[in-house]
Amino acid sequence: MSQNAPDVLTAVETCPLHELNPMHPELLKQPWGLNRRLRNDAPIFQDPGSGIFFVSRYEDVVKMAMDPATFSSKMLAPTRAMSASEDPELKAILAKGYPQVATMLTQDPPLQRRYRKFVDGAFSPASLRALEPFIESTANALIDDFIVAGRCEFLSAFGVPLPLRVIVSQLGAPMEDLALFRKWTEAFIGNLSQQLDAEGIRAAARDMVEFQHYFADRIAERRAEPQDDILSKIVNASFDGEQPLSIEECLSMISQILVAGNETTSASITEGIMLLIENPDQYALLKADPSPDMISNFVEEVLRISSPSSNMFRRVVKDVEWHGVTIPKDSILFARFASANQDERRFPDPERFDITRPNLKEQIAFGKGVHHCLGAALSRREMNIGFKVVFDRLENFRLSSDADRPEFAANALLHGLSGLEIEFDAIS
Ligand code: HEM
Repeated sequence: MSQNAPDVLTAVETCPLHELNPMHPELLKQPWGLNRRLRNDAPIFQDPGSGIFFVSRYEDVVKMAMDPATFSSKMLAPTRAMSASEDPELKAILAKGYPQVATMLTQDPPLQRRYRKFVDGAFSPASLRALEPFIESTANALIDDFIVAGRCEFLSAFGVPLPLRVIVSQLGAPMEDLALFRKWTEAFIGNLSQQLDAEGIRAAARDMVEFQHYFADRIAERRAEPQDDILSKIVNASFDGEQPLSIEECLSMISQILVAGNETTSASITEGIMLLIENPDQYALLKADPSPDMISNFVEEVLRISSPSSNMFRRVVKDVEWHGVTIPKDSILFARFASANQDERRFPDPERFDITRPNLKEQIAFGKGVHHCLGAALSRREMNIGFKVVFDRLENFRLSSDADRPEFAANALLHGLSGLEIEFDAIS
């Protein structure tokens, strides 16, 4: 397949299947044609380059998510490239940190359920209700900083800092450390992107080790003196006769909460504004009726279209025959949540952004089954409250006339814009 961007996007519709390169950066950025092609012509497709089997239809992705006994999550996906590396310099960096252990996202039941037990309470409806004023005041404070200018880069001015500040507050860290959290999240995401060169991987490893030592100190503090935050709940939780979590287990869970809790919500919030700019008819509907129910429908449709957690790894524990393809034991699969959410068999006219879609709540951006997103309710609250504050104060969103067209970042697991320069009018 040609390496030229427009050619890649055109060829993907018609080229022979064996010529497809689904990891091509242009297709990671703009996956819609590829997804359509795979859903229709190759619902189980083995990428010739990586050997990964792509599962692209809604029904099949749900089937995978609901059958963890066959489709295991047990692997250290985020650190796979690192731990498998033979680079002595990288090994020396990692040796200064704590060993990686498999917890929620990278673990199977029953152990996975055990880890969820330690954190589920921290994300209970009561805990989340108590957070609402903080989410609202944070959204207002962020808008205060850019409203007068009449323009902003929305990802860095609002999309990133809103969930980041919420999660930093919940991990019991001071706001002065925000920049560190941003750096660590970027290191984890960079590693997940599978697009780093050797020096990039080493730099990400240095940041991850720094993150581990920072939190090892916080964990020791919370053990000595518990506070009213998630970190204290995680490190001090104990259940009948069970060992409390080790430092390595705590670090793994905190890193998952940090990464899963930041980039995903940031991506959906930011894409939500772009979708309104691109779909003035839908924006008009929302302006005519900005009720909580309508904003909630808008949020669900934004989640469906954006699906920032676009692919998640599974490992098949036995040979599986599926749509005429044999998937050998121990093969790696992608559960393609983003493609599933645009499956025409489930969502008619799937690429159309439609906040009145009757079945928009069937979207599976947060996954399904035992691994269903721990932060789904938190993220929904951040989006519902965040968008309400935005719509109360700003209107008439448009792309900045002097900026480049917004582009998505090339990442195999996470899909989101790399920036969004907008102009708007303040509502007086
Ligand atoms: C728009 C925002 C979000 C999206 C689209 C999203 C998506 C997902 C998806 C698809 C899964 C399932 C993965 C799988 O089946 O392998 C998942 C799991 C998870 N999410 Fe989220 N997430 C979001 C926000 C959050 C937030 C705010 C947090 C934390 C505060 C969070 C923490 C987690 C954790 C810890 C898991 C693993 C749960 C387990 O395996 O038991 N996520 N998320």
